[in-house]
Amino acid sequence: MTESLELDTDPIQPFVTEQELAGLQPEVDRVHQDLESGKGPGSEFLGWLHLPSQTTPDQLKEIENSAAWIREHCEAFVSIGIGGSYLGAKAAIDFGCHAFLNQLSPAARGGPIMLFAGHHISSDSLHDLLQILENKKVCLNVISKSGTTTEPAIAFRLLKPFMEKQFGAEETRRRIFVTTDPDKGALKQLADEEGYQRFVIPGNVGGRYSVLTPVGLLPIAVAGLDIKAIMAGAADCEQQTSNHSGLDQNPAYRYAAIRNMFYRKGKTLELMAAFHPALKTMVEWWRQLAGESEGKDGKGIFPASAEYPGDLHSLGQWVQEGHRILFETFLRVAASNHAVPIPESPEDRDGLNYLASKSLDEVNDKAWQGTARAHLEGGVPNMTLTVKDRSAHTLGYLFYFFQRAIALSAGLMGVNPFDQPGVELYKTNMFRLLNKPGYEKENK
Ligand code: PA5
Repeated sequence: MTESLELDTDPIQPFVTEQELAGLQPEVDRVHQDLESGKGPGSEFLGWLHLPSQTTPDQLKEIENSAAWIREHCEAFVSIGIGGSYLGAKAAIDFGCHAFLNQLSPAARGGPIMLFAGHHISSDSLHDLLQILENKKVCLNVISKSGTTTEPAIAFRLLKPFMEKQFGAEETRRRIFVTTDPDKGALKQLADEEGYQRFVIPGNVGGRYSVLTPVGLLPIAVAGLDIKAIMAGAADCEQQTSNHSGLDQNPAYRYAAIRNMFYRKGKTLELMAAFHPALKTMVEWWRQLAGESEGKDGKGIFPASAEYPGDLHSLGQWVQEGHRILFETFLRVAASNHAVPIPESPEDRDGLNYLASKSLDEVNDKAWQGTARAHLEGGVPNMTLTVKDRSAHTLGYLFYFFQRAIALSAGLMGVNPFDQPGVELYKTNMFRLLNKPGYEKENK
C-alpha cells in the first residue's frame, strides 16, 4: 500500500495476466513520456499535471481567506456549475464532511449549508432552492471555465436578482464569487464590470481536470475541509506517478493498463462500485473524468457507477448473470471515521446475534469480499482500490490518482484525453430549437 491507497488486482486473473501487462509497459512508457514532455494530443491542457506541486501557499491563502469570510458571513452557500465545474467539489464534500452536513446545527457545522445549482434546468428544483434561500444570508460561487455554459448561466440569472432583492446591489456584489477563465468569456466580463471577487481557472487546465484549482478548492474550503492537506496529498501522488512509469511502481498506471487490457479483450464497460456512501459522488466525478476523456473516435470504456451494497439489490442481478461485457472496480475506505459495533440482543428475535460485537466496517468488508468472489465466478473480473481513510490528504491523493490514470488510459487508447467535441451537438440543437441569435441558419 502506498501511504494513501492500495490497488488489489488479484481477481483480474485469469482474464489479464502479469505477462500481458508487462507487454504493455513500452506503450505505457511512451504515453508517460508524452505527458511529462508536453507532447501528444491535447498537450495544451496539461496544466493539471504539476498543479499540486506548483500551487503556491499565497494562492491557497487567497482561497482560504475568502472561504473564512464566507463561513462567517453566510448561512447558505450556492455553488453554481455543471460537469467539471461542479462534480469535484461535490465529491470532495461528500467524501470529507459529515454525511448530513446541511442538517447539522449551525454551531456544529461551523459554516453555511452547502447547495448546488446550475447542473440541471429544472424549474421545480430552482423554485424550491429559492424558497430554501428566503431570509438566509446567501453567498454564490459561479463557476464556469468557458463562462458561457447555458445551464449555470440560467441559474445565475435567477439567483442574482433574488439576492439583490434581499440584500441590495452593493451587498450582493460582496456575496458573489466568480471562478472562470483568466482572459475570456461572458462571466469574466460580467465579473469585471460588477467588481465580483474573481478566481482563475488556469487556461491550460480543462474542466474535468480542474478540481484542484479554485473550481473545487473554494467550495471545498467553504465546507470546512483542509485544502492545504488536499494539495499535499495530491502532490504526494504527483511525485510518485511522475517519477515512475513502471507498472509495478505506479498504481495509477497499473490501474490504467489493466482497464485497457480488459477493453482490448472486449470488456467495454467498467462498473465502479463504491462501498461507502462517502464515495458515491467521487465515483460520479470519476465517471465524468473517464467518459469525457475516453469516449470519442468510436472508442472508449463506458464508465458506469454504483453504490454497494444498495445496488447489489438492483444492478446486482445484471452484474452476476447479464451480458458479459463488463469488469468492475470497487472503491472502498479501509477505516471509517467512526467504529459502530453491532449490539447483542437478549432475545435474538432477528437472528443477528451471530454478528454481535462485530463492527459495521467488518460486515461491510465481508460484503465486499463476498461480492468480489461472486462476480468473479460469474465472469466479471474485478479489482479494488482501497483508500486509507477519509482524510483531506487521502482525498487529494485520490483525485490526482484518477486524473493521472485516466489521462494515461486515454493515451493508451489513442484518443485526446482533454477535449470533448461530442458535447457540442446537443448544445447546437438546443440553441437552434430555442432560436438563439446566431443559430438561425441551423434551422434551415
Ligand atoms: O470537462 C469539461 O471540460 C466539461 O465537463 C466542463 O467542465 C463542463 O462542460 C462545464 O463547462 P464550463 O466550466 O465551461 O461551464
